[in-house]
Amino acid sequence: MKKVTVSTLAKRYAAGEKLVMCTAYDAIQSRLCAAAGVDFLLVGDSVGMTHLGYANTLPVTMDDMLSHTAAVRRGAPEAFVVFDMPFMSYQESVSLAMHHAGVAMKTTGADAVKLEGGAEYADLVRRMTGAGIPVMGHIGLMPQRVQVSGGYKIVGKDEKSADKVLQDALALQDAGAFAVVLECVPEALGKRVTEALNIPTVGIGSGKYCSGQVQVICDLLGLLDFTPKHAKRYADLGTAITAALQNYAGEVRSGEFPTDQNSW
Ligand code: KIV
Repeated sequence: MKKVTVSTLAKRYAAGEKLVMCTAYDAIQSRLCAAAGVDFLLVGDSVGMTHLGYANTLPVTMDDMLSHTAAVRRGAPEAFVVFDMPFMSYQESVSLAMHHAGVAMKTTGADAVKLEGGAEYADLVRRMTGAGIPVMGHIGLMPQRVQVSGGYKIVGKDEKSADKVLQDALALQDAGAFAVVLECVPEALGKRVTEALNIPTVGIGSGKYCSGQVQVICDLLGLLDFTPKHAKRYADLGTAITAALQNYAGEVRSGEFPTDQNSW
């Protein structure tokens, strides 16, 4: 397989192809995503909730992200892998943000970083892209700001906040971002932003007009108890895994497993 780069993604976008992004958090998942032809992988800080047992993304550390991203890279050497900058790894200062983004790129083999925020991060995005670090923006619902917003709410329902989402998207594009995640904005706003930009919008809960879609792999595979409205269960692996493990436990207890076939 040929290495997927920012140019590959830009060509697919220019050709009018819908871009497919999915989160991945380990080598097994990235290998499966690559085999399925997913265009690019996000090692999201959602790992905090999906794999680390936290209630939200705020406790996720640089070390968590470095470890998961390196595993994702090992599972899919040719994939385009995006490193999600965790809470407080880029908010404090430009120099700390540059340092953390550099560590992410150098030590994990990530192809790009993603950060939450709009116009207020335009200078940082310009510095990063100027230094050779491709940046994916993330606006609309920003989970790292959940303590300020008071919950996970749809963003851009009124004219003022919709205009802000559009201005943020334009500011990120102007600063050099190669794509922007649009999380949980009304479909009409997703369309408006997508039409206004000449870089891809990658929607999650932002309707069908976005240039592409991103979803959390555990939601797609039915690995968690709850499936959010923006997602669709394409499999019910949680149930299948529990059944398989019950089967295994039963056979160990009954003495049916292991057999001669499993022994030397
Ligand atoms: O962390 C994550 O998984 C994300 C996606 C929901 C876009 O940021």
